[in-house]
Amino acid sequence: MPDQGSGRQSQQCTAVVGLQWGDEGKGKVVDLLADAHDATVRYNGGANAGHSVVVGGERYALHLIPSGILAKGKPAVVGNGVVVDPEKLLEERAGLQKRGVDVSGLVISDRAHVVLDYHKIEDGLREDMLNAARAESSGGSGPGQIGTTRRGIGPAYADKVNRATALRMGDLVRPEVVRERVTLACRLKNAMLSGLSSSFAPLDADAIADRAIRAGELLGPSIRDTTYLLHDMLAQGKRLLFEGANATLLDVDHGTYPFVTSSSCSVSGIGPGTGVPPNRLARIIGVAKAYSTRVGSGPMPTELFDAVGEGIRQRGREFGTTTGRPRRVGWLDLVAVRYSAMINGATGIALTLLDVLSGVDRPRVCVAYRTPEGQTDRFIPDGSRLGLVEPQYKELPTIEPGLTECRQFDDLPANARRYVAYVEEFVGVPVVIVGVGPGREQSLVRNLA
Ligand code: GDP
Ligand code: IMO
Ligand code: MG
Repeated sequence: MPDQGSGRQSQQCTAVVGLQWGDEGKGKVVDLLADAHDATVRYNGGANAGHSVVVGGERYALHLIPSGILAKGKPAVVGNGVVVDPEKLLEERAGLQKRGVDVSGLVISDRAHVVLDYHKIEDGLREDMLNAARAESSGGSGPGQIGTTRRGIGPAYADKVNRATALRMGDLVRPEVVRERVTLACRLKNAMLSGLSSSFAPLDADAIADRAIRAGELLGPSIRDTTYLLHDMLAQGKRLLFEGANATLLDVDHGTYPFVTSSSCSVSGIGPGTGVPPNRLARIIGVAKAYSTRVGSGPMPTELFDAVGEGIRQRGREFGTTTGRPRRVGWLDLVAVRYSAMINGATGIALTLLDVLSGVDRPRVCVAYRTPEGQTDRFIPDGSRLGLVEPQYKELPTIEPGLTECRQFDDLPANARRYVAYVEEFVGVPVVIVGVGPGREQSLVRNLA
């Protein structure tokens, strides 16, 4: 009888998941943990993600390929829950290869959905339409644009759920299927998109199909049934590391809807996004920055619009890994982080970029919201209601300089440790990793069972 998740084999998997609005340093944490695991697995999102890893002074930016690819030759699995832009994937793979990275471990689920040009065009046109609609409506009502990465993520997930016109990676190796499906999709998209913009030029189905078929030829050897691959590894006692993309407050169900992405970013996305059931997860590391950032539109109660915020943006190099957009910056919102830790069942927190707060005069953390209905210490996962809250702060002592030189948790100066202790106490989850710089050696690990 195979082990179905009880006993020793249930203690095999770790998940790394963002607890804020993305860019918490998940890539760095995955890179840190990859050596202790046998494979890294992406379960959601697409090329909207940008995960930076700095190894030996070299900076890598991963978008579709799991960050664990940098852990020499181990399987790096793109699960079925990911939406894959095949040309972007090829570009990323070639870029890594050029830098001497062994990419032989890259495996892509045959059931991952394909992002094609019309998804990206639709993404952009919808955003433009939302903006125009808001500008035209009296008083500027309506949500306006989501501020997407325009990588076609939403339209690709929508097509997945709509079914008949979608393509999966496994289809790419069957030219006749690609051609038939793309032709059908283009008929539908031409009808839809011409109504969104007068300057929309009809799609050339043959050209889109040709490119998809070419990508299928190049990627074909890496496309597999990853569900059985992962379960075979589990049956052999191997350890999997799941790499969340985007983050809990961008989760389509649990985030600040509608200002979210289109996938299940929290750990509950691992089941549908890989076929691995939840009882395989032994450790869930929630990654949170020592402050908050957000890219795109949507409420962010602790946002800073002053020189303090600008200082943090510059020191933290808070410009998007994927789009280069300046990130919005604010104080650490502990109400939000506690909510996300709850949603994910986080067993530990990786508190990153603590070094960036060094020298910031008496940093604040948000411990409650004042709302039109009264004060609450509960998060409000709603794009319009969250915009109405007024954050209530606790002031903490100024963090000392010199954090980037620390190599162990005990090297941290007193106020830095106070900050960490306050986070732990408020969230009710231990801080097991503290980040004091982008390098691999700048992760201070503590009690990581
Ligand atoms: P991800 O999307 O969650 O993987 O995060 P990103 O890579 O988009 O953004 C995190 C940024 O912070 C990257 O530029 C990292 O190199 C950097 N970084 C990660 N951890 C730390 C840290 O502890 N301190 C500093 N100063 N930078 C860090
Ligand atoms: P990583 O994995 C930060 C944001 C976009 C936008 C919203 C919807 O690097 O943390 P989409 O293109 O997904 O439809 O955009 O979600 N967003 C991210 N912000 N980091 C990310 O990924 C993000 N992925 C999506 O900016 O507000
Ligand atoms: Mg990022």
